[in-house]
Amino acid sequence: MKDVVLIAGDGIGSEITDSVTKILDKAGAEINWVERSAGLGAHEESGNPIPADTIEAIDEHRVVLKGPLTTPVGSGFRSVNVALRQKFELFSNIRPARTLPNIDSPFKNVDMVIFRENTQGLYIGKEQWIDDDTKTHAEGIAVVTEEASKKIITAAFEYALANDRKKVTLVHKANILKLTSGLFLDIGREVAKNYPDVEFEDLIVDNMAMQMVMRPERFDIVVTTNLFGDILSDLASGLVGGLGVTGAANIGDDAAMFEAVHGSAPDIAGQNKANPLALLFSSVMLLEHINQKQIAENIRKAIYKTLVEKKVYCTPDIGGEGTTSTFTQAVCDNI
Ligand code: NAI
Ligand code: MG
Repeated sequence: MKDVVLIAGDGIGSEITDSVTKILDKAGAEINWVERSAGLGAHEESGNPIPADTIEAIDEHRVVLKGPLTTPVGSGFRSVNVALRQKFELFSNIRPARTLPNIDSPFKNVDMVIFRENTQGLYIGKEQWIDDDTKTHAEGIAVVTEEASKKIITAAFEYALANDRKKVTLVHKANILKLTSGLFLDIGREVAKNYPDVEFEDLIVDNMAMQMVMRPERFDIVVTTNLFGDILSDLASGLVGGLGVTGAANIGDDAAMFEAVHGSAPDIAGQNKANPLALLFSSVMLLEHINQKQIAENIRKAIYKTLVEKKVYCTPDIGGEGTTSTFTQAVCDNI
């Protein structure tokens, strides 16, 4: 049995985590869920959006499945998601996008995994006004280091090897950003030499955006810096049905957090309408991460089978006439 910290989160969080734990249980996953709280609910209960015993549990067990957390807009506490990524140095954000049966999309045969550097680039928050009085001139700083670049690019190649993938595409803008993007590209070329069996190519980001729409089937593993990865990973989700049907992982050297990319959906909370699919795909990634790969594959197959009868069993957001419960039961029956 593997101990995994489970944070249900806010809004639809408890409905979709209930669904996911039921399905994993049915599939025979060897997981002991260690339930902890975080987010707005935790804040209201204990005055702290990340209670100390949640941090302690993550410290101890190092693997987390997390539902969506409500972040108050404007004032109030800062994003728990960002805080957890920083505290546990979860430097790679991994987002697979794979064509799903019976999900509307003009794009076919998409099967790519995007590795986004999660801690640097333009997202470090170093921005300032140059003319503080008039506020007509702002500047921002992008940071790229050899160490962080090597880590994310190596993670992409290691994933390619472990999952029998053939090609890594590095995305950059080194023609213009000669130092920051140039460094990332140089390190990619160096790291690629250690993996002679994996094909390596690099593409400039604007060309990449076009190619992803023209010929998405040609991409396998993609690795890039923070800002480009943010944009391209949502683009990739859009190719296969959107954020509601794609999972995500944040992985570091010695901790990993799996989460859905959508939010807490307060408009439908408590109505048995929430689609557990995104969190379920994240939990499939979790199972692969803790080496329960056969169970992951069995769940994936059961999901695909359920999607074929989407109208009957699935939730309205993807065109079904079912509920959270009918979807959960159907996936369990198909395992
Ligand atoms: P949202 O993703 O919660 O909702 C946007 C729309 O998508 C809503 O109409 C909602 O009903 C629908 N939706 C989302 N997930 C769904 C699901 N699983 N099944 C069916 N429909 C679904 O985004 P919104 O409204 O901007 O944010 C609400 C709260 O969530 C905010 O407090 C925000 O900060 C937080 N949030 C948290 C994230 C996280 O924990 N990773 C990510 C994004 C937002
Ligand atoms: Mg984003």
